[in-house]
Amino acid sequence: MARPTETPGNIVHAPHPPLTEYYDGEEDRRAWVGEQFDKTAADYDRIERILGLGTGSAYRRKTLEIAGLKPGMRVLDVGMGTGLVAKQAARLTGDASLITGVDPSPGMIRSARLPEGVTVIEGRAERIPVADGGFSFLSMGYALRHVSDMSVAFAEFHRVLKPGSKVCIMEITPPKGKIGTALLKGYCKYAVPALAKLVARDKDTAQLWRYYWDTIEACAAPELVMNTLQDAGFVNVRRNVDLGIFSTYLADKPQ
Ligand SMILES: C[S@@+](CC[C@H](N)C(=O)[O-])C[C@H]1O[C@@H](n2cnc3c(N)ncnc32)[C@H](O)[C@@H]1O
Repeated sequence: MARPTETPGNIVHAPHPPLTEYYDGEEDRRAWVGEQFDKTAADYDRIERILGLGTGSAYRRKTLEIAGLKPGMRVLDVGMGTGLVAKQAARLTGDASLITGVDPSPGMIRSARLPEGVTVIEGRAERIPVADGGFSFLSMGYALRHVSDMSVAFAEFHRVLKPGSKVCIMEITPPKGKIGTALLKGYCKYAVPALAKLVARDKDTAQLWRYYWDTIEACAAPELVMNTLQDAGFVNVRRNVDLGIFSTYLADKPQ
């Protein structure tokens, strides 16, 4: 199978089309997203608690557990941000030194509060600066919408995992019905940014959370995400949905 490469203008499966209200095109997207996360990193955990009504950490832990994360596994958490998934992975494996987090935003990394022993690397899902086959579990929490090309990212996931390893990608997907979608949009696109305006330290935090909803609404259909995982060589690809909006994509690297 030919490995997809990260060539500008040659994207196979973008998670969503360019959102030109925020930046001009794919060429500018990466820099814009990076700058937004850098500037607003100090507000991330506080706004996440509002968005998730304080349930985010327990939900992430439960999801990792259901995905099969067990003590002793070596975990790579891609799009680690402030470490909300990595922290729960450290609890479940019982050894923080088994966890490596990767994120392109120096600001998010600086704001991370991690258990001692977690390794942190600056890098992107499309080019993960680690050796082949070193991990037995790969997690990604709410970062898939920010990669340039899912085909390239999933080929990297496949490369860095040992045979028999597991992938667990958490995302938010719009609910099926129009009413549910309208309610979620009202909450994510208007209520959360309005609250962010009141409590955030950075004036751009509200905009980032509005953008957050726009990427959810524009995101590729779950079937495309699953087919892209399969095309990258993963098997047993499936999706669990909680409360109609929290999607977890699960897959295995064959033995
Ligand atoms: C919404 S935060 C999620 C953080 C954390 N995983 C969580 O569950 O709360 C998205 C993260 O994805 C990171 N990100 C942006 N582009 C990325 C890329 N191409 N590859 C990996 N991570 C990326 C951002 O810097 C940010 O820290």
